[in-house]
Amino acid sequence: MNALCKAALLAGLAAVATTASAAADDEMKALATKSGCLTCHAIESGTPGPNGMAPIGPAWQDVAKHYKGKPGADAFLTRVVLEGSNPYGSHWKDQVSGLAMPPNKVAIKEADAKKLVKWILTLSPK
Ligand code: HEC
Repeated sequence: MNALCKAALLAGLAAVATTASAAADDEMKALATKSGCLTCHAIESGTPGPNGMAPIGPAWQDVAKHYKGKPGADAFLTRVVLEGSNPYGSHWKDQVSGLAMPPNKVAIKEADAKKLVKWILTLSPK
């Protein structure tokens, strides 16, 4: 295979990868909307909360940054999402206006929560 041919092939593969991840983004955003997550969370860092207050929950890009490289973060966060967070042991104290996250078990299936958390952990600031 000559170099030109290889370059064309690589460009093609990159295009396929981009389309696949855009589709995954849309799917995960739809799931987050349907499950009510986005009433308290923004995806992008720096998004203000209601009435100019701190956001209710942490922006998901900040969550990704905070847990980057921490082993077991996906399993840990899936539990927090399903069972809720502890108001006495807040992980985002003074950075958010919400005291704690309520359990989301009623709103989202465990398998979906796992998928969503995995996606959240792949986010990076734009
Ligand atoms: C009623 C508001 C509310 C809703 C709805 C909500 N969250 Fe949260 N979430 C919060 C707050 C507040 C925190 C910060 C908790 C803390 O400080 O420990 C948080 C924290 C998180 C964290 C970080 C947890 C940690 O321990 O660092 C993740 C991940 C998360 N939420 C994902 C989700 C997902 C996924 C959904 C939807 C299924 C969701 N949240 C729905 C308010 C909410």
